[in-house]
Amino acid sequence: MSFQIIGTGRAHPEFVLDNEMLSKVVDTNDEWIVTRTGINTRYVSTDETITELSVKAAKKALVKASLTGKDLDLILCSTMKGDYACPSLACLVQRDIGADCPAVDLNAACSGFMYALDQADAYISSGKAETILIIAAEMMTRHLDWTDRATCVLFGDGAGAVVVRKGDGLKSIIITAKGDDQLLVIGNTFCKSPYGRQIDIDPEFRMKGGEVYKFAVTSVLRDVKEVMKTAGVKTKDIKMMIPHQANLRVFQAAKEKLGFTDEQLAVGIDHYGNTSSASIPLMLDELIEAGKIKQGDLIVLTAFGGGLTTGACVMKV
Ligand code: COA
Repeated sequence: MSFQIIGTGRAHPEFVLDNEMLSKVVDTNDEWIVTRTGINTRYVSTDETITELSVKAAKKALVKASLTGKDLDLILCSTMKGDYACPSLACLVQRDIGADCPAVDLNAACSGFMYALDQADAYISSGKAETILIIAAEMMTRHLDWTDRATCVLFGDGAGAVVVRKGDGLKSIIITAKGDDQLLVIGNTFCKSPYGRQIDIDPEFRMKGGEVYKFAVTSVLRDVKEVMKTAGVKTKDIKMMIPHQANLRVFQAAKEKLGFTDEQLAVGIDHYGNTSSASIPLMLDELIEAGKIKQGDLIVLTAFGGGLTTGACVMKV
C-alpha cells in the first residue's frame, strides 16, 4: 500500500492529575479507578492550548523525519474540537510550523487517527500527495462533566503526530461507522438564533459505559482479525498491538481472544488515561523512543469510539 511512517512526536500538558486528587472532586477512589480502568494518572491542561500541544508534537515528528514544514503536501488534524471552530486546528499548526500546504481537521472521535491514516493512504495512493503530517490532538478535560464520577475519571489531554511519506509500510487498513447518539455523546453549546428552530441538544457528556465496553471488545476483535487476514499476517508476526487506550480491561480481553502475549500489548492508559484519538500516536512515539518498536517491526493499530466509529490497520514501521 501507500505510505511509511518517517517521524513521530508527542506532547502533553505538564499537570499530572492522580486518582487521589480526583477523589477530592467527586465520590471516587484509587482502587475503583485502577481496577475498573487501569488508570493511575492523566495529564490535564491548566494553561496549555490544544494548538500549542499540537505544534509541539508536530515539530518533534518533523525533526525525527529530518523535514521542515515546507516539505509537507498536506496536514490532517484529528480532533473533536480545536481551540476554535474556525480557524481549524490544522490551519494553526500549518502557520506555526511554517508550512504552506493545505490543512484540514477531521472528527471521527477516538477513531480519528485511523481515519486520518486512511485519508493519507488515499491521498498518497492517488498521487495527490507524497508527504503528509497527521496530528491527533484532544483536550478531553474541556468537555467533561466534572460532577459525573462515571466519566470524569476516565479522560486526559494530549497530542500525537506522525509524518508519513510514500512507501510500502501500510499493509492493510479498515475504517467503519455506525451512526448512534445514544451510547456516547459529547454535546455542543450553540448560540440561540431568533429565527432557527430550537433543537433540544443536551450539552453534557453522556456515556453508557457497559454498552460501549461491549461495542469496543466486539469491534476490536472483528477489525483486527480482518486487517490481519487482509495483510496475510499471523499473531506471531506482530511485534505489538497498539489499541486505543480507553480501558485496560477492554484491550486485555481483546488481547487474550486474539492470542497476543502481554509483551505484544501496548499499555499507556495507566499514565495517559483516555486521550481519545491522540492515544495511539502518543503510544507509538513513546514505544519507538523506548526502543520497544523498531524499524521493520510489524504492528497492529486498533481504535473505536463515538460516532460510533472504528478503525484498524497493519503496518511495517
Ligand atoms: N468511582 C466509584 N464508583 C463509581 C465510579 C467512580 N468513578 N463510577 C461509577 N461508579 C459506580 C457506579 O455508580 C456503580 O455503582 P452501583 O453499582 O452502586 O450502581 C458501580 O460503580 C458500577 O458502575 P458501572 O458503570 O457498572 O461500572 P463498570 O464496571 O461498567 O465500569 C466503565 C465503568 C466506564 C469503567 C466501563 O464501563 C468502561 O470502561 N466502559 C467502556 C468505556 C469506554 O471505553 N469509553 C470510551 C470509548 S472511546
